[in-house]
Amino acid sequence: MQEFSFPYQHTILAKLPANMQQLVKAAEQASDKAYAPYSNFKVGAAVLLDDQNVITGANQENASFPAGICAERAALSGLELQAGKKVLAIAVAYKAKTEDHRPLSPCGICRQTILEVQLHQKQTIAVYMCAPDGQIVMVEDARYLLPFYFSNEFLPTEDF
Ligand code: THU
Repeated sequence: MQEFSFPYQHTILAKLPANMQQLVKAAEQASDKAYAPYSNFKVGAAVLLDDQNVITGANQENASFPAGICAERAALSGLELQAGKKVLAIAVAYKAKTEDHRPLSPCGICRQTILEVQLHQKQTIAVYMCAPDGQIVMVEDARYLLPFYFSNEFLPTEDF
Protein backbone atom coordinates (compact mmCIF):
# COMPACT_ATOMS: atom_id res chain seq x y z
CA MET A 1 0.00 0.00 0.00
CA GLN A 2 1.04 3.60 -0.54
CA GLU A 3 0.23 6.43 1.81
CA PHE A 4 -0.91 9.99 1.31
CA SER A 5 0.10 12.45 4.02
CA PHE A 6 0.17 16.23 4.27
CA PRO A 7 1.20 18.90 6.76
CA TYR A 8 -1.39 20.99 8.59
CA GLN A 9 -1.31 23.38 11.48
CA HIS A 10 -3.74 23.26 14.39
CA THR A 11 -3.61 26.59 16.16
CA ILE A 12 -5.73 29.32 17.73
CA LEU A 13 -6.82 32.70 16.41
CA ALA A 14 -4.63 34.72 18.79
CA LYS A 15 -1.48 33.00 17.48
CA LEU A 16 -2.05 33.91 13.83
CA PRO A 17 -0.25 36.86 12.22
CA ALA A 18 -2.32 40.06 12.35
CA ASN A 19 -3.41 39.98 8.68
CA MET A 20 -4.65 36.39 9.02
CA GLN A 21 -6.54 37.24 12.22
CA GLN A 22 -8.24 39.98 10.20
CA LEU A 23 -9.09 37.51 7.46
CA VAL A 24 -10.67 35.11 9.95
CA LYS A 25 -12.66 37.95 11.50
CA ALA A 26 -13.84 39.01 8.04
CA ALA A 27 -15.06 35.44 7.46
CA GLU A 28 -16.89 35.45 10.81
CA GLN A 29 -18.52 38.78 10.00
CA ALA A 30 -19.49 37.59 6.53
CA SER A 31 -21.48 34.75 8.11
CA ASP A 32 -23.97 37.43 9.24
CA LYS A 33 -24.88 37.80 5.57
CA ALA A 34 -25.85 34.14 5.23
CA TYR A 35 -29.34 33.23 4.09
CA ALA A 36 -29.76 29.85 5.75
CA PRO A 37 -33.43 29.36 6.69
CA TYR A 38 -33.31 25.63 5.89
CA SER A 39 -30.11 24.49 7.62
CA ASN A 40 -29.76 27.30 10.16
CA PHE A 41 -26.04 26.90 9.53
CA LYS A 42 -24.50 30.30 8.80
CA VAL A 43 -21.15 30.20 7.07
CA GLY A 44 -18.86 33.04 6.01
CA ALA A 45 -15.77 33.03 3.84
CA ALA A 46 -13.08 35.65 3.28
CA VAL A 47 -10.58 35.57 0.45
CA LEU A 48 -7.25 37.43 0.68
CA LEU A 49 -5.91 38.65 -2.67
CA ASP A 50 -2.33 39.45 -3.59
CA ASP A 51 -3.22 43.16 -3.77
CA GLN A 52 -4.25 42.78 -0.08
CA ASN A 53 -7.93 43.27 -0.87
CA VAL A 54 -10.39 40.93 0.83
CA ILE A 55 -13.58 39.64 -0.77
CA THR A 56 -16.22 37.86 1.26
CA GLY A 57 -19.26 35.66 0.81
CA ALA A 58 -21.85 33.76 2.80
CA ASN A 59 -23.99 30.72 2.08
CA GLN A 60 -27.24 31.49 0.26
CA GLU A 61 -29.79 28.69 0.43
CA ASN A 62 -32.77 27.93 -1.77
CA ALA A 63 -36.06 26.05 -1.29
CA SER A 64 -34.80 23.91 -4.16
CA PHE A 65 -31.85 22.75 -2.07
CA PRO A 66 -29.21 22.14 -4.80
CA ALA A 67 -29.68 25.71 -6.05
CA GLY A 68 -28.07 27.05 -2.88
CA ILE A 69 -24.43 28.09 -2.78
CA CYS A 70 -21.78 27.70 -0.09
CA ALA A 71 -19.92 30.64 1.42
CA GLU A 72 -16.61 29.71 -0.19
CA ARG A 73 -18.01 29.68 -3.71
CA ALA A 74 -20.09 32.80 -3.05
CA ALA A 75 -16.87 34.61 -2.08
CA LEU A 76 -14.83 33.22 -4.96
CA SER A 77 -17.52 34.18 -7.47
CA GLY A 78 -16.44 37.80 -6.88
CA LEU A 79 -12.91 37.00 -8.00
CA GLU A 80 -11.44 38.53 -11.15
CA LEU A 81 -9.33 35.55 -12.07
CA GLN A 82 -9.00 36.56 -15.71
CA ALA A 83 -7.73 39.98 -14.61
CA GLY A 84 -4.70 38.29 -13.06
CA LYS A 85 -5.74 38.69 -9.43
CA LYS A 86 -4.27 35.96 -7.25
CA VAL A 87 -5.67 34.40 -4.11
CA LEU A 88 -3.26 34.01 -1.22
CA ALA A 89 -5.62 32.54 1.36
CA ILE A 90 -9.23 31.74 2.17
CA ALA A 91 -10.76 31.59 5.65
CA VAL A 92 -14.07 29.86 6.39
CA ALA A 93 -15.99 30.32 9.63
CA TYR A 94 -19.46 29.63 11.00
CA LYS A 95 -21.79 30.82 13.68
CA ALA A 96 -22.94 28.47 16.43
CA LYS A 97 -25.02 28.97 19.56
CA THR A 98 -22.36 27.33 21.69
CA GLU A 99 -18.60 27.70 21.45
CA ASP A 100 -18.21 24.83 19.01
CA HIS A 101 -14.63 23.63 18.74
CA ARG A 102 -14.84 21.94 15.31
CA PRO A 103 -13.01 23.88 12.57
CA LEU A 104 -15.23 24.15 9.49
CA SER A 105 -14.40 21.58 6.87
CA PRO A 106 -15.22 22.84 3.36
CA CYS A 107 -17.46 20.58 1.27
CA GLY A 108 -16.10 18.65 -1.69
CA ILE A 109 -17.44 21.03 -4.35
CA CYS A 110 -15.83 24.00 -2.60
CA ARG A 111 -12.52 22.14 -2.32
CA GLN A 112 -12.65 21.49 -6.05
CA THR A 113 -13.49 25.16 -6.68
CA ILE A 114 -10.65 26.49 -4.51
CA LEU A 115 -8.30 24.08 -6.25
CA GLU A 116 -9.37 25.29 -9.70
CA VAL A 117 -8.27 28.79 -8.68
CA GLN A 118 -4.98 27.49 -7.29
CA LEU A 119 -4.19 25.49 -10.44
CA HIS A 120 -5.12 28.43 -12.67
CA GLN A 121 -2.95 30.93 -10.81
CA LYS A 122 -0.09 28.45 -10.35
CA GLN A 123 0.31 29.57 -6.76
CA THR A 124 -0.79 27.75 -3.64
CA ILE A 125 -3.77 28.92 -1.58
CA ALA A 126 -3.71 28.59 2.21
CA VAL A 127 -7.01 27.42 3.67
CA TYR A 128 -7.94 28.51 7.20
CA MET A 129 -10.73 26.38 8.69
CA CYS A 130 -12.16 28.09 11.74
CA ALA A 131 -14.21 27.10 14.77
CA PRO A 132 -16.37 29.55 16.76
CA ASP A 133 -14.16 29.04 19.83
CA GLY A 134 -11.08 30.33 17.96
CA GLN A 135 -9.50 27.02 17.05
CA ILE A 136 -8.10 26.91 13.56
CA VAL A 137 -6.81 24.23 11.25
CA MET A 138 -4.71 25.52 8.36
CA VAL A 139 -3.24 23.89 5.27
CA GLU A 140 -0.85 25.83 3.06
CA ASP A 141 -1.90 24.09 -0.15
CA ALA A 142 -5.48 23.47 -1.30
CA ARG A 143 -4.36 20.18 -2.89
CA TYR A 144 -3.99 18.73 0.61
CA LEU A 145 -7.77 18.88 1.02
CA LEU A 146 -8.46 16.87 -2.09
CA PRO A 147 -6.30 13.81 -2.60
CA PHE A 148 -6.57 12.25 -6.07
CA TYR A 149 -8.21 15.45 -7.29
CA PHE A 150 -9.73 15.91 -10.72
CA SER A 151 -8.28 18.66 -12.90
CA ASN A 152 -8.41 19.96 -16.45
CA GLU A 153 -5.39 17.79 -17.25
CA PHE A 154 -7.85 14.94 -17.74
CA LEU A 155 -9.84 16.84 -20.32
CA PRO A 156 -9.12 16.17 -23.98
CA THR A 157 -7.64 19.08 -25.90
CA GLU A 158 -9.30 17.97 -29.12
CA ASP A 159 -12.04 15.68 -30.35
CA PHE A 160 -11.19 11.99 -30.66
N1 THU B 1 -21.87 25.29 3.79
C1 THU B 1 -21.00 26.26 3.40
O1 THU B 1 -21.40 27.40 3.08
N2 THU B 1 -19.68 25.98 3.40
C2 THU B 1 -19.16 24.78 3.80
O2 THU B 1 -17.95 24.61 3.74
C3 THU B 1 -20.03 23.73 4.30
C4 THU B 1 -21.48 23.95 4.12
C5 THU B 1 -23.31 25.62 3.81
C6 THU B 1 -24.12 25.02 2.70
C7 THU B 1 -25.50 25.02 3.31
O3 THU B 1 -26.11 26.28 3.10
C8 THU B 1 -25.24 24.86 4.81
O4 THU B 1 -23.87 25.16 5.00
C9 THU B 1 -25.53 23.47 5.33
O5 THU B 1 -24.91 22.52 4.59
